[in-house]
Amino acid sequence: MQYMVNKYLQYDIYNLDLLTYAGDLTKHKEIESRDNYYFVKADIADREAIVSLFEKEKFDYVVHFAAESHVDRSILDPSTFVRTNVLGTQVLLDAAKQIGVSKFVHVSTDEVYGELNFDPTTFFTEETPIKPNSPYSASKASSDLLVRAYHETFGLPINITRCSNNYGPYHFPEKLIPLTISRVLNNQKVPVYGDGRNIRDWLHVIDHCAAIDLVLHEGLNGEVYNIGGHNERTNLEVVKTIIATLGKSEDLIEFVKDRLGHDKRYAIDPTKLEALGWKPNFKFETGIAQTIQWYLDNEEWWQRINSGEYKTYFEQQYGA
Ligand code: DAU
Repeated sequence: MQYMVNKYLQYDIYNLDLLTYAGDLTKHKEIESRDNYYFVKADIADREAIVSLFEKEKFDYVVHFAAESHVDRSILDPSTFVRTNVLGTQVLLDAAKQIGVSKFVHVSTDEVYGELNFDPTTFFTEETPIKPNSPYSASKASSDLLVRAYHETFGLPINITRCSNNYGPYHFPEKLIPLTISRVLNNQKVPVYGDGRNIRDWLHVIDHCAAIDLVLHEGLNGEVYNIGGHNERTNLEVVKTIIATLGKSEDLIEFVKDRLGHDKRYAIDPTKLEALGWKPNFKFETGIAQTIQWYLDNEEWWQRINSGEYKTYFEQQYGA
C-alpha cells in the first residue's frame, strides 16, 4: 500500500480491509493523511457492500491481496479460508466484471503448486501443475481457478501472481521470520517444525511490491507470473542466521512436532517475470539484516501484537 501511494500520486488508491486479527491501521500512519489514499473497512465476502462500493467508485484496477494466509490456521479451521479466499474472490470478480475494470491482479502463492523435492535444479514454473497440499493452498488454488475462469468465460482482464515466502517490515509475528526475531529478542524458545530441513525461497516485500506494480501495468492479459528471487534457505539456516545476528544462543531452538502435510521445498523460476523487466534487488543476507533492524527499531509494534489476542492462538498452536 505504502509503495503504491508513494509512487502513484496521480492515482486514487483505496485500501479495502476487514481488519481481522492481522489487520492493523498503524502500519499506514505514514500515508493515512495523503490526498491519494482512502481506507474502507469491508468484508470481501459481503456481496452487497462490495458491489455497491465498486458501483460508486468505478475502480480502474483491482489488486486482490485480501486473504487468510497462514497455513497453520488453515489446519485448525479450514472453513474461514474457503469463505474469504474462495467466496470473497468470487464476489470481487463479480463486482469487477460488473463495472468493467481495466485489470484485476490476483495475488496468489507458489503453494498452489504443492511441493518440490530437494533436488536444487527443480523449480516451480507457471506451467507446473496445480497440486495444493494444505487447506490454505487449496483455497488459493480454487481462487486462482475462478480468476482464470472469469477471464476465459467473461473476458475479464486479469493476471495471477504466485509469489514465494515474503519477509520484511510489519510482518505479522505468526510467520517464521518475525516469529523467530520476536521470540529471540524476548529470549523465548523458537519452535522449529520437524527437523528444520524444509526449504523456502525468500522474497523481500519491496521486491514483491515492485513485481505486482509491473504486472499491474505491463502484465500480458490472462497471464500468470511467478515471483521469487532464488533465495532458498532451510528453515534451520534462517533461524540460525537470526540468532547469530542478534548474538543469542542456538539453545533457543526447540524442535517441535512437524506441521501436518508440511511441504518440503518451494523454489521459484522467475524467468517469465524477468522477461517483463523485473529483477529482485534484495539478497537474503541484506534483506534479513535490515528486517532484523526494523524489528529492533519497532519493538512496541510487535510486543503489542504478542501480548494481544495472538497470544491465545500461539498457545493453541504450540501449547502453553
Ligand atoms: O510460499 C508463499 C507462502 O509463504 C504464502 O502463500 C503464505 O501465506 C505464507 O504464510 C508462507 O507460507 P509458509 O507456510 O511457508 O510460511 P511460514 O512462515 O508459516 O513457515 C515457513 C517455514 O517455517 C515452513 O516450512 C514452516 C516452518 N515453521 C513455521 C512456523 C510458523 C516452523 O518451523 N516453525 C514455526 O513456528
